[in-house]
Amino acid sequence: MSAAATPPGSGPERGSVFPPGFDPTAESAEKTLCFRGFWAWAVLILLIAICVSVFMWLLRKCIQGPAYRKANRIDGKVVIVTGCNTGIGKETVLELAKRGARIYMACRDAGRCEAARLEIMDRSHNQQLFNRTLDLGSLQSVRNFVERFKAEESRLDLLINNAGIMACPRTLTTDGYEQQFGVNHLGHFLLTNLLLDRLKQSSPSRIVVVSSAAHLFGRINREDLMSEKKYGKFFGAYSQSKLANILFTCKLSSILKNSRVTVNCCHPGVVRTELNRHFAGPGWMKSVLQTGSLYFFKTPKAGAQTSLRLALDPGLEGSTGGYYSDCMRWPLVPWARNMETADWLWRESEKLVGLPSMEPPPPNQNQNQNQNPTQNSNGTQNGNAANGSREMQSVETVVVNRS
Ligand SMILES: NC(=O)c1ccc[n+]([C@@H]2O[C@H](COP(=O)([O-])OP(=O)(O)OC[C@H]3O[C@@H](n4cnc5c(N)ncnc54)[C@H](OP(=O)(O)O)[C@@H]3O)[C@@H](O)[C@H]2O)c1
Repeated sequence: MSAAATPPGSGPERGSVFPPGFDPTAESAEKTLCFRGFWAWAVLILLIAICVSVFMWLLRKCIQGPAYRKANRIDGKVVIVTGCNTGIGKETVLELAKRGARIYMACRDAGRCEAARLEIMDRSHNQQLFNRTLDLGSLQSVRNFVERFKAEESRLDLLINNAGIMACPRTLTTDGYEQQFGVNHLGHFLLTNLLLDRLKQSSPSRIVVVSSAAHLFGRINREDLMSEKKYGKFFGAYSQSKLANILFTCKLSSILKNSRVTVNCCHPGVVRTELNRHFAGPGWMKSVLQTGSLYFFKTPKAGAQTSLRLALDPGLEGSTGGYYSDCMRWPLVPWARNMETADWLWRESEKLVGLPSMEPPPPNQNQNQNQNPTQNSNGTQNGNAANGSREMQSVETVVVNRS
């Protein structure tokens, strides 16, 4: 019987240095297995890390969305961008400046606007940038801005209604309107209407309205437009104002049919900007949000891409009345393309900002109006509405020329 055939532990093996029962081949096999096991684990962990990194990278790219890549220039084109001292507006101006535009930066804080203007001039090597004061929460400020602009420029090729305020505590504009509705919708409504003549003279020209997907939660509250009875910061007032932006776009596009002035609106995505400055949650939640937003939110540059496509893309010449997100056109939900609501909102906005009516109201509305004149949020009657549209026309047509 050979030594190999001897059963282990049956007696001391002759010539063996190992104690009885010890099998050196088993130990080395175990060592090899351990060694292999370590590398197997290391490779597995490495593979998982690579897969996670690739997934995170792809997810980040998806979150950032597509970029506007056409290299077309717009040298000498006259542009107004509202609310562009920071965030999406600032990035929009930077890109337009790099492409040679002559840009009026319409901001409410002259100091912050100047700082942004100097930075953008430095980065774009474009000196044709102008700092102009515009507070969309004051109808007089809007009128002053337009007056000065018209004295300076005879044309306007592109208007970008970008400024916005979100989820602030309930406050009122200078004119006594709920802040988010007043700034996001009414201020821009007046601004755009006062500039229509310049846009028409310069056609083909474009209007870009920066709205939000928050419009999906919104409804136009005809009984309480200024949220006097019930105020919801985000799902109430902000969403209503962003829905108003879209209904405004729909109505304006039908008014501007055949004028070669196009108007489109967009949702920029969820973007890491100062828009959430009114967020009032606990400190730890703010920190979590701040940290999470570094990865899960778009950068302001990425957030500006849809506005830039609407402003620049030669392929969109003639396209109007659309809603875009991630540089693509999307269908609107039924309540965001309801033309009856859009008509009502347009007439109501005309009254609230003191513009003469473009169209006569439908007969049943006319009757209601005489019985129940619009009240502003202070509870006082709105002068223009209360006095009827004839007087309004005689006062306002002196100041306003929307032909
Ligand atoms: N960020 C997002 O995730 C997101 C998502 C959907 C839609 N949007 C829309 O994108 C637009 C740009 O927002 P953003 O994210 O870039 O926010 P942002 O960083 O807060 O910028 C908003 C700009 O609007 C200006 N503004 C606020 N109130 C104004 C007023 N009364 N008159 C004139 N300008 C005023 C601000 O000026 P000050 O700096 O002086 O306050 C600022 O320049 C807004 O319309 C917003 O609703 C943003």
